[in-house]
Amino acid sequence: MSNQILEVKDLCKTYIVNKRQNNILRNLNFQMEEGDFVAVMGPSGSGKSTMLYTVSGMDRLTAGEVTLGGKTISILPEKKMSEVRLNEMGFIFQQMHMLRNLSIYDNIIISAYHSGLGRTREGRTKINQYALELMKKLDIIDIADNDITEVSGGQLQRACICRALINRPKMIFADEPTGALNSKAAKEVMDELNKLNREGSTILLVTHDVKVAAKTDKVLYIMDGNIEGEFTLGKYSNESTMKERERILNSWLLDMGW
Ligand SMILES: Nc1ncnc2c1ncn2[C@@H]1O[C@H](COP(=O)(O)OP(=O)(O)O)[C@@H](O)[C@H]1O
Ligand SMILES: [Mg+2]
Repeated sequence: MSNQILEVKDLCKTYIVNKRQNNILRNLNFQMEEGDFVAVMGPSGSGKSTMLYTVSGMDRLTAGEVTLGGKTISILPEKKMSEVRLNEMGFIFQQMHMLRNLSIYDNIIISAYHSGLGRTREGRTKINQYALELMKKLDIIDIADNDITEVSGGQLQRACICRALINRPKMIFADEPTGALNSKAAKEVMDELNKLNREGSTILLVTHDVKVAAKTDKVLYIMDGNIEGEFTLGKYSNESTMKERERILNSWLLDMGW
């Protein structure tokens, strides 16, 4: 039996700008299985972010169907959709939006307090325990009480990963999560995402960085709103294979017109 988690069927997104119809996504089709780590690449403006936002229901799609864990989410009314996003999806962005005047720790737990678990004292204890566990795992426990302005970019993004994971999502969506980081911090963030993936997290990630994409299982190449190609790398295991993975991915990207 297949353990398909995400199915995207004939996804279309059209924006109307100045009365002109702009077809940003044109009949995208792809699936993900549980435990997949997929990267989306393509030129700037090709529709990568739009795809991530329409698939995850942050933005409405124009046509098509998205199924998450067997449930068709693309037809859900906004309130139900936001519950799905809260409880079943985790998000990581290039711009690390966190609430000012709250500590790193509070930023991590806040969405869990809004979920069902947050309604009881017992549930909140569980949330606090899990938040500590995540912060230890991502090596940011020492900055738990810091203000969001008192940490480095890499630490802040690792905190964002904790926040994305706090409700134990079925899927993680990441839009250029390393885009604002220096190469050392970017590598640390990718190491964490790889670790989470090995532990079973399913991740769909947009990136323009070949080093980042080379650590995923499969790369989808988007151009003008179509998936123009797909390249399977297989699971990343260790650093010693990186040069070769980057080489074959680069050569495929060149063929795709990158
Ligand atoms: N809210 C919007 N209204 C109109 N056009 C948009 C909107 N958001 C994105 N676009 C257009 O959709 C195209 C794809 O954008 P985007 O998905 O952000 O590309 P990418 O992430 O691949 O760089 C661009 O041409 C962009 O101008
Ligand atoms: Mg984008």
